[in-house]
Amino acid sequence: MAKSKFEYVKTFEEQDSCLPETFMVIRIDGKGFTKFSDLHKFEKPNDLAALSVMNQAAKDVCTEFYEIFLAFGQSDEYSFVFSKESTLFQRRKEKILSTIVSLFSSSYTFHFEKITGKPLLKIPAFDARIVCYPNLKTLRDYFSWRQADCHINNLYNTCFWKLIIEGGKSNQEAENLLKNTLSDFKNELLFSQFGINYSKLDPIFRKGSLFVRKYTVDKEKQEKLEKLLKENPKAKVSKPRMKATYELQHVDLIQEEFWRLNFPELYE
Ligand code: GTP
Ligand code: MG
Repeated sequence: MAKSKFEYVKTFEEQDSCLPETFMVIRIDGKGFTKFSDLHKFEKPNDLAALSVMNQAAKDVCTEFYEIFLAFGQSDEYSFVFSKESTLFQRRKEKILSTIVSLFSSSYTFHFEKITGKPLLKIPAFDARIVCYPNLKTLRDYFSWRQADCHINNLYNTCFWKLIIEGGKSNQEAENLLKNTLSDFKNELLFSQFGINYSKLDPIFRKGSLFVRKYTVDKEKQEKLEKLLKENPKAKVSKPRMKATYELQHVDLIQEEFWRLNFPELYE
């Protein structure tokens, strides 16, 4: 097809690619979710239904891009990591980021009312960034950073809202009480004043949510293959295809055990 005289404008486009042989990590984060959460009357400090919407959107992203082998989410954020070998969109940053964040936002909107049982009062938006980590150490440290953040925020917020809702304190009083305190103090406060053993709280709140990729035999393809072999035992068949599925977990990922158990190939 003949090119128009306008086509030269394409030369202004910049192409920014992720370095090869690196783990591509995308993190999305809700825009203005402090307000969004208040508007939808999310429970404080944690709303299980709101977290389930995030998890459903993350699962939809993983299922669309099976090269994601781990996703981690907490509060209004989610991180996804692609295998080092991924060639998705020739590793073009803009294309990867924009596709993932738009799929996540659409899925969040699509599932919101069904999961929470509440009307959606504002169109949600998410920002996104992409960072390439060169090795397993930096990748593990990245996810450890996000899970530690989940723990620190959750311990603080659990104390903060207990002091206000059950302890009758004002926001300012609760803030002053918790200022510069260590975890031991917060654990003790929850136990002595509110009878709460922090380590017994639902792990989804303490550890966040993880989607771990697992490979299972594709049942549909397996059944077709068996049927074919029954009809024609000498038929030439290829091995049944494996299918990527994602298992939701709420476990510690800071320990090396998690990585060795779920992703032994990263240690080969
Ligand atoms: P930007 O990301 O900079 O746009 O600001 P933000 O308002 O989204 O704040 P940020 O991402 O730092 O933090 C997320 C906010 O979402 C928290 O401060 C909470 O106010 C809110 N949030 C997330 N999950 C929950 C929840 O389960 N319950 C409630 N009540 N609020 C939540
Ligand atoms: Mg946010």
